[in-house]
Amino acid sequence: MIEVENLTKHYGPRRAINNLTFQIARGEVVGLLGPNGAGKSTTMDILSCILSASSGTARIRGYDTFEHSFEIRKIIGYLPETPPLYPDMSVRDYLMFAAQVRGMAGKQTGNAVERVIENCSLQDVGHRIIGRLSKGYQQRVGLAQAMVHDPDILILDEPTIGLDPIQIIEIRKLIQELAASHTIILSSHILPEVTQICQRVIIINEGEIAAVDSLAGLTASLRKSERLSLTIRNENSKVAEELNSIDQVLSVLPKEKNQFLIECKLNSNLQDEIARLALANQWGLVEIKPLSLTLEDVFLKLTVEEKDVQA
Ligand SMILES: Nc1ncnc2c1ncn2[C@@H]1O[C@H](COP(=O)(O)OP(=O)(O)O)[C@@H](O)[C@H]1O
Ligand SMILES: [Mg+2]
Repeated sequence: MIEVENLTKHYGPRRAINNLTFQIARGEVVGLLGPNGAGKSTTMDILSCILSASSGTARIRGYDTFEHSFEIRKIIGYLPETPPLYPDMSVRDYLMFAAQVRGMAGKQTGNAVERVIENCSLQDVGHRIIGRLSKGYQQRVGLAQAMVHDPDILILDEPTIGLDPIQIIEIRKLIQELAASHTIILSSHILPEVTQICQRVIIINEGEIAAVDSLAGLTASLRKSERLSLTIRNENSKVAEELNSIDQVLSVLPKEKNQFLIECKLNSNLQDEIARLALANQWGLVEIKPLSLTLEDVFLKLTVEEKDVQA
């Protein structure tokens, strides 16, 4: 469905993406994950025919993004990082305009607008001025304009950026609903976001692909150890020493006051054992909790391990 081959983009002397190659199958929901400046928006702009590549190719359903931008624009919907909204227009007028820009006319326009208003749950705000809506609603309007011509493929650049936690949950839910009937590529710099929505992730870092994998595969291959966070109430200088005496504990890192990061072997399930130690030594156990990998951990592991291999 989407085939990217050796895609490279320079902005003047600056290389934003380098030799990206990946494929996305019909119906897949794929996350493009990377820190700021990794090249996510550049990649999406090229896929959406907004930018041309310096070299390499990107094809969508066989159409080249450079040569057949007209065909591609019909089958994709793009939500850029900053949605292209007119703040003075009402939601419905703006969506009518977006539909007309895409070549619709007459009854077709109205039907299309009503369809996206329903899909994006905008029924209550159709008459309202866009500039007065919350960011969450504005993002839905952005999504609605990307879908007004009923494209099969949605390209969403950081769809939850700048939203508050409740709005984030709502937009994610909306994307999950759309995933049932669309091929979606979405970018994010937040790992849990991608883990919730996507089946597969492409990690890019400094313009290059660092990993392509299913989420489970990625986490498993990155995880050679697991971490627990321990919080206690009573000051005790022997905590690290006692924890280190457990066989499966690899390291103990004191964090804030009375808080410890315990790195242990995979599947060692040490909670019971640590609780016993805490009771026996009267540490005043407050909390033991497993820590999941953050995006920072993923990058650190990927880049550090690469360097280890090279060294
Ligand atoms: N119009 C531009 N002119 C010059 N450099 C740019 C431009 N757009 C992006 N860049 C640079 O290209 C790199 C990738 O940017 P971008 O694709 O926006 O990354 P991301 O979306 O992952 O944050 C960054 O180093 C950025 O500074
Ligand atoms: Mg970006």
